[in-house]
Amino acid sequence: VDVTLRWCDAGDLPDVMEADGRAFGFHYEADDLDDKLRLHDPTDFLVAEDDGRVVGLTDSFPFDMTLPGGAGIAVRGVSWVSVQPTHRRRGILTALMREQHERFVADGVAVAVLTASEGGIYGRFGYGPATLVRKVELDRRLVSVRRDLPDAGPVQMVTAEEARSLLPERFERWRLRTPGGISRGEAYWTHWFLDKAAWRGSASKRFYAVHDDGYVAYRRVQQWHDGLPAHDLEVDDLFTASEAGHRDLWRFLLGIDLVGKVTVWDAPLDDPLPFLVDNPRGVRTTALLDGLWVRLLDVPVALAARSYAVPGELVLDVRDDFLSRGGRVRLRGGPDGATCTPSTDEPDLALGVGALGSLYLGAHRATTLARAGLVEERSSGALARADLLFGTERQASYGTPF
Ligand SMILES: CC(C)(COP(=O)(O)OP(=O)(O)OC[C@H]1O[C@@H](n2cnc3c(N)ncnc32)[C@H](O)[C@@H]1OP(=O)(O)O)[C@@H](O)C(=O)NCCC(=O)NCCS
Repeated sequence: VDVTLRWCDAGDLPDVMEADGRAFGFHYEADDLDDKLRLHDPTDFLVAEDDGRVVGLTDSFPFDMTLPGGAGIAVRGVSWVSVQPTHRRRGILTALMREQHERFVADGVAVAVLTASEGGIYGRFGYGPATLVRKVELDRRLVSVRRDLPDAGPVQMVTAEEARSLLPERFERWRLRTPGGISRGEAYWTHWFLDKAAWRGSASKRFYAVHDDGYVAYRRVQQWHDGLPAHDLEVDDLFTASEAGHRDLWRFLLGIDLVGKVTVWDAPLDDPLPFLVDNPRGVRTTALLDGLWVRLLDVPVALAARSYAVPGELVLDVRDDFLSRGGRVRLRGGPDGATCTPSTDEPDLALGVGALGSLYLGAHRATTLARAGLVEERSSGALARADLLFGTERQASYGTPF
């Protein structure tokens, strides 16, 4: 790799944004610089330079992530990753990933996470797909909330100013009960509420409706349905901390007149929605994709931080070809917590660190990964034990695009 890597400061941001815009296909405007300065810590950007020009970059955000059992763990969320079209496939991304993740390790970060533009990039760096994102569409003229359900609790439409003070606390209550839930800090919320015209295409500004236990934020898009003007409704956020809140917000959404299609980008696989409505087939899954990718950087710390569905033990032989952060560990876990310590005992399972990342939030089963050759069962019954241990009560979901 014939480039120089360098950590940035605030003065680098215009060049970084120019390079980011080229990679992802847009131009930042002058006032975007101030917005980004509020959102990013410029010293978290790592750039690759060729002859003084930025030709590759990566960034990360500090987040808190909810783990199965409800504990939280500090993670770094990798973002703004790109290499300029003139310099691709020369190993620049690989060099950036190595330098950035070695800094995470030096800073004591046990887990890194990201969402990927393409599914083929990050497995080689020890990441495993660890949640699923499901896009759901309903035609609200064909689907209603069941009539036999209890009466709706109050749902109120509020202004953006009111939403700014009402949403964060409701989001946080959802996040703390959802494995994989990624925190949103003040800077994130401020940026999210800017809701600039340039970011929303032909869709409206957001509308907000709140319930005691949650909220929905959505946009309306003018469409023609069967020759008549109507709106489609695109849900940005729908987060609730109770089943009553979930039901009441869906009743609200499906009751909005002059609307045809309702689209939700991230409905968990275990969302009860199909059973809440009178026409389950009307809830159509139109995409099912990898969501959050997890990279364990300190296996013992990461595994001991979550709790496990049932009491049990496993000796894991973890391979890490990219950063050599693997090794053999004994995990003892249960609903009340866990310990994880280095071990020299015979392993029950052998797996790559990426496969362990895929198990970490409970969204994928060891048995499934073994069928794909990603986990090797070394002692009889270990796969079934791993399935039980790592399983979660609620489907993992990250909630925060970054
Ligand atoms: C993805 C991207 C950053 C890769 O950068 P790069 O410097 O070309 O990557 P490297 O040269 O370090 O490639 C390392 C390996 O990954 C592979 N690879 C890189 N990009 C890939 C992709 N999009 N899909 C599959 N494999 C990919 C390379 O072939 C190489 O494989 P090898 O080690 O077997 O030879 C670059 O193509 C890019 O900027 N894409 C557009 C923006 C983007 O999608 N960013 C990621 C946001 S999450």
